[in-house]
Amino acid sequence: MRVGILGSGQVAQSLANGFLALGHEVMLGSREPGNPASAKWAQAAGAKVSGGTFAQAAAFGDLLVLATLGTATPHAIEMAGLRHFDEKLVLDVTNPLDFSHGKPPALVGAPGSSAGETHQRLLPKARIVKTFNTVGNALFFRPKLQGGVRGDMFLCGDDAGAKERTADLIRAFGWEPIDIGGIDASHYLEATCMVWILNAMRNNDWNRAFKLVPAA
Ligand SMILES: NC(=O)c1ccc[n+]([C@@H]2O[C@H](COP(=O)([O-])OP(=O)(O)OC[C@H]3O[C@@H](n4cnc5c(N)ncnc54)[C@H](OP(=O)(O)O)[C@@H]3O)[C@@H](O)[C@H]2O)c1
Repeated sequence: MRVGILGSGQVAQSLANGFLALGHEVMLGSREPGNPASAKWAQAAGAKVSGGTFAQAAAFGDLLVLATLGTATPHAIEMAGLRHFDEKLVLDVTNPLDFSHGKPPALVGAPGSSAGETHQRLLPKARIVKTFNTVGNALFFRPKLQGGVRGDMFLCGDDAGAKERTADLIRAFGWEPIDIGGIDASHYLEATCMVWILNAMRNNDWNRAFKLVPAA
């Protein structure tokens, strides 16, 4: 499979490493061609990778990933060209965070205007699934958690088939998929990211994952 990732940061690179380990081809996209971060990563990662613009990555991928600065993602999508998203599975891992007043960041967006919903409205023909936004990128691929526990990876979206494919990918990345509903549930997944951040700041430990534990 060809995976086009909009983004050149740590999140894009960590997901790309996971897709590569699973045997897929990956292109990272940026605002400008020759972005130094993706060029450096591509050089280290090897043959099945490349870097390009947002538009090139979006055209390249059968599966697309939104891994750009949360509040700038609509701009990145516009730069990529809306038609490149039509009918494709699009994983939205973004969180609309405002760091302008320092840390912790503020979450932007009320119910109905979360990033996931905003991106789905911008791309009505895309099959957007919100996921991988509630855990740090260091744990994205087959993390080793205490006690050998398999962490929960939440997802939501409107297309049942897209969610099934995403759930398979989540399992391949070493997580248990937890479907929490339609794309309107993005608001709550994006808020869950804040739970993760606030806990991490209080404990100075960014390597924790969520797990819903059933009663005995
Ligand atoms: N940090 C984590 O562990 C973590 C975990 C889960 C989810 N997330 C979310 O994942 C996303 C990516 O996070 P990150 O830390 O890897 O990177 P980031 O610093 O949030 O974003 C970097 C990417 O955003 C693009 N970008 C920045 N300003 C832009 C603008 N004005 N217009 C268009 N594109 C712009 C950059 O483009 P260039 O390539 O051109 O520089 C780059 O590709 C964020 O939404 C974040 O909240 C983060």
